[in-house]
Amino acid sequence: MAEAADNQPDPMRRALSLAARADFATSPNPMVGAVLMNGGEIIGEGFHHRAGEPHAEVIALEQAGERARGAELWVTLEPCCTTGRTGPCTQRVIAAGVARVHVAMVDPNPAVDGAGLADLRRAGIEVVVGERREEAARLIEFYSVWVRTGLPFLTLKLATSLDGKVATAGGDSQWITSAEARADGHRLRHTHDAIMVGAGTVIADDPELSARPGVEAARQPLRVVVDSHLRLDPGARMLRSGDAKAVVATVTGVDGERRSRLEDVGAEVVEFPADGAGRVPLRQLLGWLGSRKLISVLVEGGPTLLGAIQADGLGNRVIAYLAPIIIGGASAPGPFGGDGVARLPQAWRWHWTEAAMVGPDLRLTAEL
Ligand SMILES: NC(=O)c1ccc[n+]([C@@H]2O[C@H](COP(=O)([O-])OP(=O)(O)OC[C@H]3O[C@@H](n4cnc5c(N)ncnc54)[C@H](OP(=O)(O)O)[C@@H]3O)[C@@H](O)[C@H]2O)c1
Ligand SMILES: [Zn+2]
Repeated sequence: MAEAADNQPDPMRRALSLAARADFATSPNPMVGAVLMNGGEIIGEGFHHRAGEPHAEVIALEQAGERARGAELWVTLEPCCTTGRTGPCTQRVIAAGVARVHVAMVDPNPAVDGAGLADLRRAGIEVVVGERREEAARLIEFYSVWVRTGLPFLTLKLATSLDGKVATAGGDSQWITSAEARADGHRLRHTHDAIMVGAGTVIADDPELSARPGVEAARQPLRVVVDSHLRLDPGARMLRSGDAKAVVATVTGVDGERRSRLEDVGAEVVEFPADGAGRVPLRQLLGWLGSRKLISVLVEGGPTLLGAIQADGLGNRVIAYLAPIIIGGASAPGPFGGDGVARLPQAWRWHWTEAAMVGPDLRLTAEL
């Protein structure tokens, strides 16, 4: 789509940048922005800040008051027509007397999926769909996956040498990538609702999995560890540090004593029926996280967990930080453990969507 000339307003673009200001705090709701114009002038605008608070359209309509009559509304997502915590926005738009509504995309929520647009049209409002659709879709990609599948959007984060190793043959792994890349990885945590690692990583590295500085406890990403035998030490930093909650996912029939010791330090221990290998069933765990309204999970390794994720074909995006160092060594590990595939046609195929420099390192993004 052509860019609007500098002197011409591009209300959808403005609505999108307003939406992004929510900075992922709306979860499990999508980020949405709205701009209301009348006579070439912005008479109201806003964005959804967080779940339970007013929707973007309503904020814009309230600012405009009576001037909304006959106005034109740009909104990055189809207005809702279901009575949630805040009531259907379509009724507010209709009652305000808005003449025309521009919607970047239809709501992927099966409970809406065009029904909001139908309400507007039935009330005689002209509806235009699709302006800056791709940008709008990108903004709500976590929500779209979750609302359609019930599973959180899964991002796999890797940090490797240029020859694809995550540690030396002797196990030295800190640090392969630069401070800049690690800071960028931190920023990634900020955008996700949960961070997930395997018990091996917690036992070996005792990471803090520290979350968002300066953000209240309720908005800290949940820390999740898969630990079938409750090998975790209750003193582990990820269980204790910061305000974030920790979930230890394990299998049914696990040792009660170990369980209580972890619960005593505030961890939530959740049992699932073991998978064929006696381990935490990953798809079920993700379904459980989805049912708890977590719409995005960042997996930070290690190789055993990532190998199992590959075997299950789970994952929506890979973000790989690549340092320009060569570790070498036939036995130095790569990011994905397990058995891998036997033959190349079975390889898990992705496509690159972005390449960027982060300090001295490369950040490569791939999607399915
Ligand atoms: N360079 C990097 O980016 C990076 C990132 C992370 C980790 N690492 C390194 O990786 C090493 C640890 O890796 P790791 O492979 O031993 O540990 P891991 O992948 O972090 O944890 C694996 C363990 O998780 C448990 N688990 C439970 N359910 C599972 C399931 N469904 N699938 C897979 N695992 C499941 C298993 O232990 P139970 O059977 O007891 O449950 C398994 O042994 C450390 O040395 C760390 O430094 C490097
Ligand atoms: Zn709404």
